[in-house]
Amino acid sequence: MNIPLDCREGVCGTCQGRCESGSYTQDYVDEEALSPDDLAARKILSCQTRVQSDASFYFDFDSSLCGAGGKRLLTGQVSGVRQVSKTTAILDLDAGAHAGRLDFLPGQYARLKVPGTDVWRSYSFASRPGDDNQLQFLIRLLPDGAMSNYMRERCTPGQTIDFEAPLGTFYLRQVERPLVMVAGGTGLSAFLGMLDGLAHKGNCDQKVHLYYGVTNARDLCELDRLASYTQRIANFACDIVVTNPSDGWQGRTGLIPEHFDRGMLESNPFDMYVCGPPPMVDAIRAWLAREGVGDHRLYYEKFADSNGAQQVP
Ligand code: FES
Repeated sequence: MNIPLDCREGVCGTCQGRCESGSYTQDYVDEEALSPDDLAARKILSCQTRVQSDASFYFDFDSSLCGAGGKRLLTGQVSGVRQVSKTTAILDLDAGAHAGRLDFLPGQYARLKVPGTDVWRSYSFASRPGDDNQLQFLIRLLPDGAMSNYMRERCTPGQTIDFEAPLGTFYLRQVERPLVMVAGGTGLSAFLGMLDGLAHKGNCDQKVHLYYGVTNARDLCELDRLASYTQRIANFACDIVVTNPSDGWQGRTGLIPEHFDRGMLESNPFDMYVCGPPPMVDAIRAWLAREGVGDHRLYYEKFADSNGAQQVP
């Protein structure tokens, strides 16, 4: 049985599960991965767990993530690159040369090798899986970063990029409750993949509400695409929140939880998906714990700007 892994160092939380019976010890557990409450609830990181007796564990993964195949090293060709906001680029990658469909779940991510370097960076798929293996990623443009500099200075269609996929356990589960999606910055990438998947299936009868937060209005991207989901997904709504409302922004401002539909969260069971920088994810988790909203399941992915550490997406 393959348990999805990423850092193997007790930091990323990808391999998280819960011990249902038996005894165990854990080596290093970063507090970003499991809180004291998580530990008290017998949550574990499999990469750090040593079993001390017969034991059973529960993992909230789709069983297809635990197959024998695991991630694969692949190659794609750049088919498009464009800057879509002050801080964001979109990379289109043609992996059509690979036989068979690249099997990933909307919300998962890939590790891309920056051409001409030994540096790898992780990005969530902004596209749904398809038979033609046309992939897309939102790339955050940092002032000075390995992938950012490549995107700005050297990336042109036809170039080859090696990548490893699929990775991660942040993916859209069976939709059986209203969905609340919370995207911070380029965390939007994972939700674009999920929403493209829902639009393609065309049978989602639950409410889907996306909250998209950015620091400045000039960071916003893919607004036409977001607007198109109102036509393509029944019961879809999107609210955009700008933290620092300079440059003439007339819309919602502040922090995302201030704009949640409290009535909905208090009266209905719901599933919430959060993808963004760690402080945003932590703030949402704290808000949910503090406000005592109704029955819900929370799935989240943290990512950090990086010049070396993990960056997702
Ligand atoms: S693989 Fe990252 S915490 Fe286990």
